[in-house]
Amino acid sequence: MTIEREGRRIRRRLAKGCGMGKDWVMEIMIRARRNRRSAAIRGLVRETRLSVEDLILPVFFHDDAEDVAIESMPGCTRWSVEGLMKEVSAVYALGIRAMVLFPKISESLKSSDGAECANNDGLVPRVIREIKEVCPGMCVITDVALDPYSSDGHDGIVMRGDHGELKILNDETVEVLCEQAICHAKAGADIVAPSDMMDGRVGAIRVALDEAGFEEVGIMAYTAKYASAFYGPFRGALDSAPKEGDKRSYQMDPGNVREAVRELLMDEEEGADIVMVKPAGPYLDVIARLRDETTLPVAAYQVSGEYLMIKAACAGGWLDEKAVVMESLLGIKRAGADMILTYFAKDVAGWIKY
Ligand code: PBG
Repeated sequence: MTIEREGRRIRRRLAKGCGMGKDWVMEIMIRARRNRRSAAIRGLVRETRLSVEDLILPVFFHDDAEDVAIESMPGCTRWSVEGLMKEVSAVYALGIRAMVLFPKISESLKSSDGAECANNDGLVPRVIREIKEVCPGMCVITDVALDPYSSDGHDGIVMRGDHGELKILNDETVEVLCEQAICHAKAGADIVAPSDMMDGRVGAIRVALDEAGFEEVGIMAYTAKYASAFYGPFRGALDSAPKEGDKRSYQMDPGNVREAVRELLMDEEEGADIVMVKPAGPYLDVIARLRDETTLPVAAYQVSGEYLMIKAACAGGWLDEKAVVMESLLGIKRAGADMILTYFAKDVAGWIKY
């Protein structure tokens, strides 16, 4: 029986005002609600599940002795190195097996070429070594980009053009990024994650790592990283906002999805092990598209602004935090993400059984 016929039939009965007693049964054979009848059945038919193993926790830290609450990201802390080590153990005990590191570098170490990024005794390599000591099973992922080290707050080396305009130099930046990646690998990083969006950096980093004997170190490429307004709270956390201009000459235009596939093809060819879409929530179609186009694992980054929106709405009592966080992450996974970087990782690990 077609839906249309069924509708006509119901309207006829209603018009007659009869036949709608408690024994009345519609003559439909297909009822989707049968599969939603009980928690047990819903569990059997559920298509997407979140696991602690899907989660990657981004962490912030600095070289000061104090752990500082991050104002722009309520619930997040910028750890001292000592505080971070305690956090790593706590996080591991919750079942989280991967972290990505974001340092706040002191102003005095920043420069226009970001040279501090490849200092083997710098904050990041020291932290990597300590994490591997405290918690050898933790997968340590590092961000490869110059912004925390750049006195200009850009992901690459900045030059001024003939008309005073800012130029972010591509090839010169890639050379420094290769040194940064090797520095992280030497310290024990498992995966490096170039987030800079320079052209050719994945291939160059792959070659540099291999030549330095780090062929086992993986590359998680920020493949489709958009020039998004959702990064605001993160830049507040690290004091890394561009001093001048914006990042639109290297990060992607929010209107584009074919271009994400183009970036994907380049990153695949250049040897990426994992590809990423960032932000996640407003770009679910991009996640789904990359999932369809590649056999590589796809990561998605639920960024600081997505985190803050949920936190703020819940702090106001407007939304139920646990329910909304789980739904937001499930949506990202359903769209096609194999793994998710999220500031909620710790909460989620406490909420789900694995
Ligand atoms: C830096 C970097 C940024 C984020 C991750 N790596 C900021 C930016 O590109 O300006 C943003 C993460 C977030 O907002 O949670 N290359």
